[in-house]
Amino acid sequence: MTLRPARREDAPAVAEIWRSGWRDGHLGHVPDELVAARTDDSFDVRAVERAGDTVVAVVDGAVAGFVMVVGDEVEQVYVAAAHRGTAVAATLLAEAERLVGARGHGHAWLAVVAGNSRARRFYERSGWTDEGLFDHMAEGPDGLIRVPAHRYVKRVAAKP
Ligand SMILES: CC(C)(COP(=O)(O)OP(=O)(O)OC[C@H]1O[C@@H](n2cnc3c(N)ncnc32)[C@H](O)[C@@H]1OP(=O)(O)O)[C@@H](O)C(=O)NCCC(=O)NCCS
Repeated sequence: MTLRPARREDAPAVAEIWRSGWRDGHLGHVPDELVAARTDDSFDVRAVERAGDTVVAVVDGAVAGFVMVVGDEVEQVYVAAAHRGTAVAATLLAEAERLVGARGHGHAWLAVVAGNSRARRFYERSGWTDEGLFDHMAEGPDGLIRVPAHRYVKRVAAKP
C-alpha cells in the first residue's frame, strides 16, 4: 500500500468509494434533507473540488481508500468495501493525524453520526475519544444542513 496526495485523475475512483461508503455509513442515520442532497452526481463534483484536501491509499495500482483533512478536522475517511478490515483504514487515519499535527494543531477532530457503529468502533480502537453529540453543519446545495453527530477528538503531535 502506498499513500500519496490525490491527483485529478483519481477523482472518479474517489467518488465511487465515497458514494457507496457514504450510503453504508449514513443511510438511516441522517436527516432526509442530507440524503436528498447527496445525489450520485454530488460525489463526482465534490471529489474533483476537494482533490487538494485528499490523500489516497493505493493498493495494487488502484485507489483503495482516501482521507480529506481541512485544518484540524479529519473530514472524510473512506475505504472501499473490499479493503475494509485491512490496514488501509488505520494507515489513512494515521496519515490524517500526522497532517493535522504538521499544520501546527495539538488536537484533531472529526464528526461521525451516532448510527455509524462501524466507524465509531474503528475511531475508538484508534485512540479517539467521543466528546458527545453536537450539531454538525454539513454542506448542501442550498446551504448548510444540521446533522446531529458525535464529535471525536484525538491529541496529535503538533509540529509547527
Ligand atoms: C469507517 C471505515 C473507514 C473503517 O474502516 P474498516 O476497515 O471498516 O475498519 P476496521 O474493520 O479496522 O474496524 C471496524 C471495527 O468495527 C467492527 N464492526 C464491523 N461492523 C460493525 C457493525 N456493523 N457495528 C459495529 N461494529 C462493527 C469491526 O469488528 C471492527 O472492530 P474490531 O477491530 O474491534 O473488530 C470503513 O468501514 C468505511 O469506509 N466505512 C464507510 C464510510 C464511513 O462511514 N466513513 C466514516 C465517516 S465518519
